[in-house]
Amino acid sequence: MSDRWYEKAVIYCLDIDTYADSDGDGVGDIKGLIGRLDYLARLGVTCIWLNPIHPTPNRDDGYDVEDFYNVDPRFGTLGDFAELLHQARDLGIRVIIDLVVNHTSDQHPWFRSARSSPDSPYRDWYVWSDSAPPDRRQGMVFPGEQAETWSYDRTAKKWFYHRFYDFQPDLNIKNPEVRAEIRKICSFWLQLGVSGFRMDAVPFIVEETEAGRPDSPKDMEFISELRQHVQWRRGDAVLLAEANVEPDQLKEYFGDAGGTANRIHMLFDFMLNGRLMLALARGNPEGIIDALHDTPKLPAGGQWATFLRNHDEVDLSRLTAEQRNEVFEQFGPDENMRLYGRGIRRRLAPMLGGDRRRIELAYALQFSLRGTPVLRYGEEIGMGEDLSQDGRNAIRTPMQWSLLPNGGFSSAKPGDLVRPVISGGEYGYERVNATTQRHDPASLLSWFERMIRTLREAPEVGSGSCTHVDVPAPAGVLVHRADDVTGTMLFLHNLSDTDGVVDLGSLRPEAEFPNDVLADREYEEPGKLDKLAIAGYGYRWIRLRRRA
Ligand code: GLC
Repeated sequence: MSDRWYEKAVIYCLDIDTYADSDGDGVGDIKGLIGRLDYLARLGVTCIWLNPIHPTPNRDDGYDVEDFYNVDPRFGTLGDFAELLHQARDLGIRVIIDLVVNHTSDQHPWFRSARSSPDSPYRDWYVWSDSAPPDRRQGMVFPGEQAETWSYDRTAKKWFYHRFYDFQPDLNIKNPEVRAEIRKICSFWLQLGVSGFRMDAVPFIVEETEAGRPDSPKDMEFISELRQHVQWRRGDAVLLAEANVEPDQLKEYFGDAGGTANRIHMLFDFMLNGRLMLALARGNPEGIIDALHDTPKLPAGGQWATFLRNHDEVDLSRLTAEQRNEVFEQFGPDENMRLYGRGIRRRLAPMLGGDRRRIELAYALQFSLRGTPVLRYGEEIGMGEDLSQDGRNAIRTPMQWSLLPNGGFSSAKPGDLVRPVISGGEYGYERVNATTQRHDPASLLSWFERMIRTLREAPEVGSGSCTHVDVPAPAGVLVHRADDVTGTMLFLHNLSDTDGVVDLGSLRPEAEFPNDVLADREYEEPGKLDKLAIAGYGYRWIRLRRRA
């Protein structure tokens, strides 16, 4: 069995500022999170991914960093952070943090210095142009919120490049000093005890941007160098990258042509994410089957990170316009639910109409597909979104802990909260909260605990192969299997609302003592595998055999 911890991890993504507030100032903090580690341990989380924790003007939810060597004072101190790492480790939970080095905040002392004078030692840390770049209205990541990718700086009397918002100037990775600094940032946090990094915006970090060249070359060696550095500093540290690129480019992110994964360990599977959304919208697994067939074979040690929701909009840009519209119609019918022309700013439970069967089905499916599952905080209790908030903030509302005021998130006055807690209605904290669900064995939270515990017994999912089992099955049913030296798991997921029967008798010779380890209800035991019933929106995880 592989001892690469990240292949068997369950990653939980959270934003400290909306998780748990320990001192009543209305902003979540590190001590608050420490107080909730027991909750995460019980849920079965083995790794926490923290959204940016650094000091920031906070104009992009912390993705605009002002100091890479500190924690946001609103969250606590570096001492608190070290304590968090210790306490988490004691519970068997690792911590990875966001590494946001494509850009800095325009308030970062490096940029302030860089713009102030041509003689600044930091001038060449950013990307400049003397004249207005002809391609400056191309390549915006946030259309509607961002008008250009080059802006004029009156102090420097030059244009500077920013792939994202204009307050996020891009760092110049062609400059060896910048590369050395990024390595130093990694060393610092590894030394403190983090287990790795979620690398933000990797395709843009490696861009060697020049004005007037929208298809600038990419320096993939930057990633190889960084990987080597990180691995020397801490052998089991991992890089988990956000790289939403065309499928034929994915392989280069894992490794060079040599065939080993010498770059990124794990990539978020954006392609699968879009297809999952399409499949859920259609009640038909074809898109997922295509994804299982199409995705490139990964080099040894390379791993996918699967997800349904994250801290950003559901990104449907890799679907065709027609497919995207289908998903929009089902999951984002109102214009106000959509964002940037490509995405949906909602959480999963409301997208699925609050239908418990469909929510379980969706997460059972995600967690059983190849790779390491990543879960966004609040999804485990079925939280909703607040569309009165701007843009992506709709899905960044405080965690709903209990029936206490502010959902137990904070004791501050409601007006002083970092963001309002969702209250009232189907998704308000009065109806959706962790404490009530903890007491109820039939709750979604209890289901998540069981499901994650079951995954612990199925290491094939994280470490093994994942294949579509091509047998005649009703149109809505996906049958797939996971194989490794530890054995074989078989999975049935019915994405439609129609009951069905699947004949898997052909697998009988391989089966030892097939039995359901997780299912939406009690089915007749799989036995001969010839008439497997599956309810509408039902699922069955079947252990086929132990050992290959
Ligand atoms: C990534 C993050 C997003 C952020 C952007 C700029 O896409 O996921 O939240 O706004 O990078 O850093």
